[in-house]
Formats: sequence, C-alpha cells, structure tokens
Amino acid sequence: MSRLIVISNRVQAPTENETGGAQGGLAVALNAALAEGEGIWFGWSGDTGEDNSLRFATYGGVTSAVMDLSEQDVDEYYNGYANRTLWPLFHFRLGLTEFERDFAGGYERVNRVFAERIRPHIAEDDLVWVHDYHMIPLGWLLRQQGVTNRIGFFLHIPWPPTRLLVALPDHRRLVESMFAYDVVGFQTEEWLESFCHYVTHEMGGVLGDDDTVTVGGRTIRAIACPIGIETKDFVEMANGPEARAAQMRQLESAVGRSLIVGVDRLDYSKGLPERFAGYERFLQNYPDRQALVYLLQIAPPSRSAVQSYRDIRANLEQMSGRINGAYADTDWVPIRYVNRGYPRATLAGIYRAARIGLVTPLRDGMNLVAKEYVAAQSPHDPGVLILSRFAGAAAQLDQALLVNPYSAEDVSDAIDKALRMPKAERIERWQAMFDNVTAEDVIWWRRRFLDVLTA
Ligand code: G6P
Repeated sequence: MSRLIVISNRVQAPTENETGGAQGGLAVALNAALAEGEGIWFGWSGDTGEDNSLRFATYGGVTSAVMDLSEQDVDEYYNGYANRTLWPLFHFRLGLTEFERDFAGGYERVNRVFAERIRPHIAEDDLVWVHDYHMIPLGWLLRQQGVTNRIGFFLHIPWPPTRLLVALPDHRRLVESMFAYDVVGFQTEEWLESFCHYVTHEMGGVLGDDDTVTVGGRTIRAIACPIGIETKDFVEMANGPEARAAQMRQLESAVGRSLIVGVDRLDYSKGLPERFAGYERFLQNYPDRQALVYLLQIAPPSRSAVQSYRDIRANLEQMSGRINGAYADTDWVPIRYVNRGYPRATLAGIYRAARIGLVTPLRDGMNLVAKEYVAAQSPHDPGVLILSRFAGAAAQLDQALLVNPYSAEDVSDAIDKALRMPKAERIERWQAMFDNVTAEDVIWWRRRFLDVLTA
C-alpha cells in the first residue's frame, strides 16, 4: 500500500493529551490509514504567526505537520474566502455571500504557500488526498510545483447549482483547477450532478463511462462517495459507562418528559431559528402536549470572527428567550439552549436518552449528527429521527421523518407524528437506517475513495 498524505485546513491527527474515543469519524478513518503507512496530515495550526514553516509531531503512529498563518492570511483565506464567500455560496445563501478581491487573492496565496511547504515532503509513490473547500486549488498548485502523484479531492460540503455558482467571480478558474486532481469526490449524487452540470454547460465538458469527466483533453473521475461515521466504535461508546451516566442524567432531569435533541455547530446553515420556530408551532398547535416535551439544543459557537455567525447567535438568544418567556412554567422550560460542546461519549448518551433527534439544516453536505443519533439508539426502543430533506444524509437515511426545514408546520407535524409513533414502526424505521449506517461507515467511505484514487 502507498503512503497516504492528507491535507486539510484543520488537522485532526492524534495529540499528546488525546483520550480514546475523543475523535470524530473523519479523524478515525484517516488516522487509521495514516498510521498503517507512516503517512502525514498537513494543515493549519489554528494559530496566527508570521513564520509559516511546518512543525512536525508524531503521536499514535500518525505524523501531523502544521503551520501558522499570518493575521492577514487568516482574515482573507479562512474568515474571508473560505467562510464569507465559499461557505455561504455553496450552502445556497447568495444573500450572505461576500465578494472581495482580497479574499480571493488571500485564498490563492495561502494555498500556494501550503503547496510550496508540502511539496518537499511528498515521496514518489505517495497518494495525496486533499479535503474540503478551503483547499480547492491546492492540487493544481501542487502540479505547478512538479507533483505527478495521484491526487484526490473530497468536498465535505454541498456543490451549488450552476446558476448560483456563476455568481462567484472567477468561478471558471476555480473549477478548472479541479481538473488537476485525478479524482474528485462529493457527498451525494445531487452535488455530483450539479458539478457535472457546471462542467458540461459552462466548460464544454463531456461525461464518459465509469464516472469520467473530460474537459480540454484532461479526464478525471468524479464520484459520489457519502461519508459515514465510525459506527462500531460509536455504538460501543453509546453502551459505555460515560454515555450511560449522561443518559441517566438526562432522564432524571426530564422527569418523564420526552427529550427532543438538536446538536449543531452554531451555523446559519443548520436552520436553528427555523427549528425553534417549528418547535414553537408544535407548542402552539398542541397545547395539551406542551409540558410533556422539552427541546435540548446544544450549539457550540463557531467562526465568531464572521459577522453572519454573530448575527445568528444573537438571533437565537433572542428567540430562545422569547419562547421560554412565553411558554415556560414554574417547573418546565420548553427550550434548554446550551452554547458549549460536549465529549462524544456524553453526546452518545444524550442521543440515546432522546425520543426525537431533530436534525433540520437548511442545506448540509452530509450531516453526521443524524447518523450518530441513529447509531446511539437502543435497538429495542429506538427514538425517531426527524431529518431535513436538504441534508445529504437524507439520501441514505430515507426512513427518517423527512421534513422541509423552512416549514414550521412541517416540523411541528413531524414532532407530533414522532411522539405518537408506535414502537413497531420506530424499530422498523430505525433498523433500516442502522443497517445503512453500519454498511456505509467511515471506513467504507475511505476505502471506496482510495480504491478509485489508486485504480
Ligand atoms: C464543516 C467543514 C469542515 C470544518 C468544520 C468546522 O464540517 O466541512 O471543513 O472543519 O465545518 O468548521 P471550522 O471552520 O471550525 O473548521
């Protein structure tokens, strides 16, 4: 097997203090592959500094190599082009998308620095795997540095429809750069179709057999390859002592009420105000059932240097305060809104305690919370997953109650249906989803992508 080189903005290689089970699916899958062949995971340190030389560290058989970025780089590349231009646009939010020449310049500059720094560490037979929207042109910049290895790219977020993408100045240059890869992967057929639509309509590209796409004499493979979770480990964790303690703590504090849970980074793509509005509609429509449920929304703050993230945070504080003020009783609050993150084992226990998993992004590349919620359930008495039809996960988890997250009525009806759902139906739906989450886990995803990349 060739050695693997992973490149992404955030590096999730093991660290000195890491305890078992702390890592998410991507980290588990990639670290396992990196450890097998003494590979390296490259990316940003998360810190600012003027010296952008690489710092290497090896833990658990995995080497990470990170570099600092200057304040200007972070502003233009990360907060700017990645999170104020590409993120909103790729999540279909043209109104939130900001176009600044400095952002685009900073994005390419930082990608070029990554290419220059990483180049000397790539050996002849290495497989190179680049991740996500922060690094779209990196493969092309590595080619300019003389790298002839097989290079793959996987996009973790949606690919927007052509009619949105053309709003991006230099959209063609960005997509052309993707033809430097050998394989480009998307989460779902829908995002893949949108990519192919762009390439055929805007670039005169031709689709061939075997997932090939050809533009100007250069042929690459473009595939849909949905990411999964580390299902086996997660199920084990959900049955372990930490999760049980968290589950008991929830059940005790619930005093017989049904828990509805949402867990999301505090991001406008996650549809949190719409979710609160849908839940409020349920409280209005079913006054007799009000005090029998509560919503626990866990939402750790994210990207707080970006104004749209500060806005969504303020909006949610206001909404949760207003809804709680209007409906709460002396012994019940309808929404427990928590702005912090929890260890994965704690979340597993909370998922297991929840009668409903409420996962209603307005647009999402995949959404792994939906899969984790399924994995954490008790097979004998599983909860119900309410899932946005606009999450990539809906293509695989079609036995969830699929909703339109923009419609408060739809969300309210689904909550009602979930609470009334007979156990036999809950088990049947859950089993189908659990089978999928088990078969198409994160190891399956990694193998599939790397098999195509090596082919
Ligand atoms: C999404 C992106 C990831 C990103 C994560 C957290 O899942 O696809 O690339 O790392 O959000 O966002 P952050 O900006 O904190 O890295």
